[in-house]
Amino acid sequence: MTDNLVLVGYMGAGKSTIGRSYANKYNMKYIDTDDYIENHEHSSISDIFQAKGEKYFRQLETTVISELISNEQNAVISTGGGMPMREENQILLGKLGTVIFLKASMESIWDRVRNDTKRPLLQCDNPKGRIIDMLRVRNPIYTKCADICVETDNKSIEEIISIIERSLL
Ligand code: S3P
Repeated sequence: MTDNLVLVGYMGAGKSTIGRSYANKYNMKYIDTDDYIENHEHSSISDIFQAKGEKYFRQLETTVISELISNEQNAVISTGGGMPMREENQILLGKLGTVIFLKASMESIWDRVRNDTKRPLLQCDNPKGRIIDMLRVRNPIYTKCADICVETDNKSIEEIISIIERSLL
């Protein structure tokens, strides 16, 4: 049995903010899969994408999830927005813990990521159009692999955490 909580959702949905707060409140360990990869590779996500390509990064994501399954208990784990896209990872995420989908609207995601330079997939000519296209593909996948879905628009961190708490009862 694992008591891990696993946060999934699109870039800018608030996974890191909510994950850190939740872990803090319950004195749990907090792990961010992007940070984990950056530490292991001694390189930023942008540099990994640029030097080795997205496919290499996706393989690292699968490796990280497998390692966390073996090593972690009672942790809050925030995952990169593309983590559940591989079918293999969907199964692994379910083994890692209770999967929570933090669902945000296009508008609130756009507000949070519009000035971001650290997310390689959004460094393109029409990032807004890209987000719309990606959400269309990804939202059903996040929903499918999650045990719990929390809509985060117009909610405070405390409200979101309290919805998660009630859903876990
Ligand atoms: C990605 C999301 C990013 C990071 C990478 C790819 C994605 O993580 O893993 O840039 O495919 O959605 P965040 O969701 O933490 O921004």
